Amino acid sequence: MQDKTHLVDEITGHRRMRRNRKADWTRRLVQENRLTVDDLIWPIFLIPGSGIADPIPAMPGVNRMTVDKAVEAAKEAADLGIPALATFPNIEMHLRDETGSNSLEANNLINQATAAIKKAVSNLGIITDVALDPFTSHGHDGILRGNEIVNDETVDQICRAAILQADAGADIIAPSEMMDGRIGAIRRALDRAGHQSVGIMSYATKFASGFYGPYREAISTGGLLKGDKKSYYIDPANGTEAIRDAALDVEEGADMLMVKPGLPYLDICWRIKEAFGIPTYAYQVSGEYTQIKAAAMNGWIDGERVMMETLLCFKRAGCDGILTYFAPEVARILAKRG
Ligand code: PBG
Repeated sequence: MQDKTHLVDEITGHRRMRRNRKADWTRRLVQENRLTVDDLIWPIFLIPGSGIADPIPAMPGVNRMTVDKAVEAAKEAADLGIPALATFPNIEMHLRDETGSNSLEANNLINQATAAIKKAVSNLGIITDVALDPFTSHGHDGILRGNEIVNDETVDQICRAAILQADAGADIIAPSEMMDGRIGAIRRALDRAGHQSVGIMSYATKFASGFYGPYREAISTGGLLKGDKKSYYIDPANGTEAIRDAALDVEEGADMLMVKPGLPYLDICWRIKEAFGIPTYAYQVSGEYTQIKAAAMNGWIDGERVMMETLLCFKRAGCDGILTYFAPEVARILAKRG
């Protein structure tokens, strides 16, 4: 019997939201979104040599790996059921130059890794980036002429790099350099080279963000970068501009779109999914990973709980999957839960 002295009125009594939250079984029945291993893409870092897994100080738990170690990691990923890896090379400094010419070497580090992983592991997708920043001496994603990152010349080069990556076995080309017209150009280049079945995941909305810091340490571009990337990445203030940019990529033939960084940009994920109904991914970037790890290591948050919560929130925001450095850790937890 309701105590009549309480102030909750009769109408509220008919609409108690807590009835569906009262037990574990009701909560399971009404749960709208679920994270599964099929939602995970694991970004990994590559270094030259063999037998080395080199910890990245700003990303506790993440290693840079030589190709042989990357193959082992790929096997582990496939065993865990992770659908795909995304690879990022940290090449020797003496190979980096003004135009990023090493991106055009058929047997460069990223292509070596793709070929080795493809040979050793079946049923695992390989996603490769064509941005030039791992290859340039100035850390920019494109070719620098004077003070300008030149658009069209960069697009020509990344198209050639994309063909080499596809030749090595890449399944999806993911251009992250935000040059105009790149999606259509890469599509045409791949098709002409006979790579019709190689897909394109566009880093459609990549913001000029402070969250990339640890990644730049991981591939040793942080100290190199001259100036900033604001002339080609999107201003974090702009949502509508991001949707316009994504629309162009859809028109040009992108198969999938990505939003990057992730958590601070969930509104963009939602808007993209609503606007285009195209497979949409978020990249939970290095700084997001590091924030969670650092707070957890200090005992200030429950790291596992926050990790799982953030990934579920991407699903609620409409994402079909998440690129996350947590991928193997999450896959192990999900496997244990069954
Ligand atoms: C650059 C690139 C960046 C990331 C991947 N490729 C950003 C940058 O250095 O500007 C960031 C990934 C991360 O922070 O996890 N093409």
